[in-house]
Amino acid sequence: MSTEYGNIPEETIDAVLTQHDIVETVGRHVHLTKQGKYMKGLCPFHSEKTPSFTVTPDRQIFYCYGCGMGGNAIKFRMEIEGLSFPEAVKIMAEEAHIPFQSTSGKPESPQDRETGRLLQAYEWSEKFYHFLLKNTEHGRPALEYLRGRGIGDKMIDQFGIGFAPDRWDTLVQFLDKRSFDLTEMEKGGLISAKQNGEGYVDRFRGRIMFPIANRSGKTIAFAGRILGEGHPKYVNSPESRLFNKSRVLYNFGQARSAIRKQRQAVLFEGYGDVIAAWEAGVHNGVATMGTSLTEQHAAMIKTTADEVLVCYDGDNAGQNAALKSIPILEQAGLQVKIAMLPPGVDPDDYIRSNGGDRFIRQVVEDAASTTKFRLANLRRGHRLTEESGRVDYARAALPVIAALTSPTEREVYLRELSSEVDVSFDSLKQDCNLIRQEQNRPAPGQGDPGPVYSDSKQGGRGGQYGGRGRDRGDYANKGGYGKKGNFGGGGGNYGNAEEDFFPQERRARPNRDLLPAYQTAERRLLFLMLQDRQASDYVEQRLGNEFNLPEHAAISAYLYAFYAQDREPDSSRFISSLQDEKLEKAVSAIAMMEGPREWNEQVLDDCIREVRKVPQLRGIERKREDMMRAEKDGDFLLAAQIASEIIALERQ
Ligand code: CTP
Ligand code: MN
Repeated sequence: MSTEYGNIPEETIDAVLTQHDIVETVGRHVHLTKQGKYMKGLCPFHSEKTPSFTVTPDRQIFYCYGCGMGGNAIKFRMEIEGLSFPEAVKIMAEEAHIPFQSTSGKPESPQDRETGRLLQAYEWSEKFYHFLLKNTEHGRPALEYLRGRGIGDKMIDQFGIGFAPDRWDTLVQFLDKRSFDLTEMEKGGLISAKQNGEGYVDRFRGRIMFPIANRSGKTIAFAGRILGEGHPKYVNSPESRLFNKSRVLYNFGQARSAIRKQRQAVLFEGYGDVIAAWEAGVHNGVATMGTSLTEQHAAMIKTTADEVLVCYDGDNAGQNAALKSIPILEQAGLQVKIAMLPPGVDPDDYIRSNGGDRFIRQVVEDAASTTKFRLANLRRGHRLTEESGRVDYARAALPVIAALTSPTEREVYLRELSSEVDVSFDSLKQDCNLIRQEQNRPAPGQGDPGPVYSDSKQGGRGGQYGGRGRDRGDYANKGGYGKKGNFGGGGGNYGNAEEDFFPQERRARPNRDLLPAYQTAERRLLFLMLQDRQASDYVEQRLGNEFNLPEHAAISAYLYAFYAQDREPDSSRFISSLQDEKLEKAVSAIAMMEGPREWNEQVLDDCIREVRKVPQLRGIERKREDMMRAEKDGDFLLAAQIASEIIALERQ
């Protein structure tokens, strides 16, 4: 019998895991030192100064006590290289010369093969353009242009920048000679069909070529910039089976690990901004493709970050785009900050004239809260030197402040507003409270800031911001966004696995919560069950899935199924069968526990009893409440009966 995971036969996964040793796999990215049975190093998935990242050679898994990331060799490659599960297995299979088929028995579909050829063509085209830029006469003016803009060889290599000569068929010939099907290449957006329908011409001519990669770092499109002034400034690849603008962020593949470490992404408008920022040391920068930010973009960022710093151009268009991005990012559960650039300056310009250090200190680190940004934006539209300008500004600003849930925050902004518009704090506060009442009333016509301000000269804008402001308040109410999940931090359930084998470190961090006894018992059971099939059978018969923590119940169910397929105990392979990040991390943590691996029925029974206590205690608790209610109602007979039941239960 054979099981498939995401259409990949189990045998392939087994072979991949056999051929890729965890220590070797991890060792390519992390400096590991031996510590008894374990290897330790600095976690590549979060920033840390003392190592809490652990690899166990005999179980072939890794686990980080700092951030809770864990799994087997496939999982490590997925995370470090930004690959999906099938992508990682495929690459690892190829590296180890294991035959890979996407579905057991079935060959790749014609579509898969076409995609493969197109990816290949993009990769070669990128290398070709890069070569032309760096090594030929054709490329010289482009090279000078780039140098003039402060983009040197290092960034040219880092971003794979190239040059498409100003000729009709440079790339067409290149692809043709390599036997690519030109019809296919045209469909994939690499070249264009001639107007008369006979033959093909290059799509990009006389342009600097910026390769655009998908999240796994494979080139799927190009943006071609004209040298100097001219129109259109950019020619982009059309959308194709590979390229969908609303799902691609420029530089996401390269920025991923930095984003993950800092839990923050910097969002730019232009390619030039991303590149200049990279050179300045900001490696978590990404950009949209000249289109506005979409929900998909936000969701993509949310997979690796908790916060986004929006760093758009200092002109009106840039600032309006920044305003629009706020609700999209917040909706995805991201915290948002806005970098404030001087009017008319883009990040690229700023870095070129002020240097990277100043960019980091004065723009990145000094980014504003969304409220501060909204207010600054409103302020710019009013003449504060004139009384009417001050009044209008106050009217526009109050709904933004009123929508804030924190009274402290409201007070801070009201005080600031008070000195800006020269109106007493108390009057502003009164107005603010009135608006809050309006905002909180579940009025028909949501998003309407209320009658008080709808007659403002800036009516449209005031209304707009009022509506947004209210949205923001709602998100703020939900709170807890971007916080680590259950299995995440040291405070999470699984951070405590450390207790089992780093007793010294536990002393160093004294205020760690001890796990309740039943949780320790559940973990001990799963730990033993992972090593031994008989232990698993024993627990299955007596406890089944009645673990108190839902994750533990799920793991047990998967484990019973795993053994039911006649498989040998193997944490690393078991993890592959889970296909669920939360459970993978949980199993990694449990498998990493230290302690005797020997067991007998007595040991298991003790743990099972501990686990069963919880529902029993809850039952007793409920009976106590019943008893109290009966006493209050004067039904002493019933109360006495319940009391004796409680005593019987407690005896058990
Ligand atoms: N853009 C585009 N097509 C255009 C103009 C702009 O696709 N004709 C997109 C590009 O993604 C560009 C972004 O919008 O990076 C921002 O535009 P702009 O600020 O004009 O370009 P920069 O990248 O800043 O270009 P440069 O600094 O080289 O002038
Ligand atoms: Mn620019």
